[in-house]
Amino acid sequence: MNPTSTFRIPSIIHYGAGSLNELAPTARQLGFTRILLVTDTGMVKLGVAGQAQELLEKAGFHVTLFDKVQPDPTLQNVEDGVVLLSAEECDGIVAVGGGSPIDCAKGIAVSHANPGPLPDFMGVEKIPRAGLPVIAVPTTAGTGSEATRVMVITDTSRDVKMMFASRHCLCAAAIVDPTLTLSMPRLLTAVVGVDALCHAIEAYVSKRAQPMTDLLALSAIRLIAPNLRAACDDGQNLQARGAVMLGAMQAGMAFSNSSVALVHGMARPLGACFHLTHGLSIAVLLPVVTEFSLPAAPERYAQIAAEMGTTNLVSSQQALNRDTGIPPLRELNVAQDRYESLIGKMSTDALASGSPANNPRAASTEEIGALYRRAFAG
Ligand SMILES: NC(=O)c1ccc[n+]([C@@H]2O[C@H](COP(=O)([O-])OP(=O)(O)OC[C@H]3O[C@@H](n4cnc5c(N)ncnc54)[C@H](O)[C@@H]3O)[C@@H](O)[C@H]2O)c1
Ligand SMILES: [Fe+2]
Repeated sequence: MNPTSTFRIPSIIHYGAGSLNELAPTARQLGFTRILLVTDTGMVKLGVAGQAQELLEKAGFHVTLFDKVQPDPTLQNVEDGVVLLSAEECDGIVAVGGGSPIDCAKGIAVSHANPGPLPDFMGVEKIPRAGLPVIAVPTTAGTGSEATRVMVITDTSRDVKMMFASRHCLCAAAIVDPTLTLSMPRLLTAVVGVDALCHAIEAYVSKRAQPMTDLLALSAIRLIAPNLRAACDDGQNLQARGAVMLGAMQAGMAFSNSSVALVHGMARPLGACFHLTHGLSIAVLLPVVTEFSLPAAPERYAQIAAEMGTTNLVSSQQALNRDTGIPPLRELNVAQDRYESLIGKMSTDALASGSPANNPRAASTEEIGALYRRAFAG
């Protein structure tokens, strides 16, 4: 554990069923007048983007809709958003959706305030200036992006998911309303939930863990582990949805101020090379990486197992994947020969991301390659 530590989260957080009604008052409090509403077509079809737009327009704000965000937002998505934001002279940003629209909104805010290629600011605390304030309204219970200083933007020209961690990537406010997650289908619920659980686990075993993040990580595990199956089995179970969403936000706060580790380091290249969603890449890697890392931090992993109500953490993670319908890697659209040929690139990219350096057990390129192979064998 580090002798000193820093802890940052958004300064305004509204949580609970119905908290979407705080959107307009929060925008007013932050001094917004002309708002860029960043979202994706899924949110438009579901009517959630329209609902947010109506709340804002009724309250007198001028709203410009930007719904071109792709899952795993790209540099192009960010650039398109900046053009619209400038043309419409917006003074505030609202993101409605999962981690993708929220990260894209952060990217737009940062790019607008910091001329120059966004990739130059990759890494930890490399962004010089703060951008326009962002209000995040998450609709998945997974990434915790609403509460993190992290954004992930994909450079499609290199198949690289770029990670930025900066205080300028913190949202000004988060509105965390579990009713917005009721519409998530079963598999999406499962994979984003396991992503959140993984944030909590990695934050707790990370070399950068600190007292505040330990507290939040353990609380998140207690909230997510027993409620994720219930949320998958009955999507309308608001109590379970609320617990998982609260846990996901706490897990976000935990990893944002501690770190993620080897699972995330390996998941980013896997997702980028095979176009698997972030949560799915995490879920298929979590058990094998836990098994590898466990001997280096037995007490910490035992505490996690206890919070999950198990003595065998690895098999309990495998069971969670199975019970929530997450398919194993070999059953996904991943050709074995291509997978094998990309293990070298994925292992190098994983190490280069920096996240594996925070893992309790150090892993060489060869060991990471062996873990990719093991994950495929299932
Ligand atoms: N910034 C961070 O701290 C952080 C942390 C982890 C992951 N991420 C990033 O977040 C992104 C993934 O975000 P995500 O997992 O939340 O998914 P997402 O935002 O990519 O959304 C996936 C799909 O689910 C749909 N969807 C969203 N909410 C829904 C709802 N309530 N009902 C029905 N459909 C819904 C979307 O329209 C979209 O089609 C990745 O790019 C990942 O790298 C960021
Ligand atoms: Fe994640």
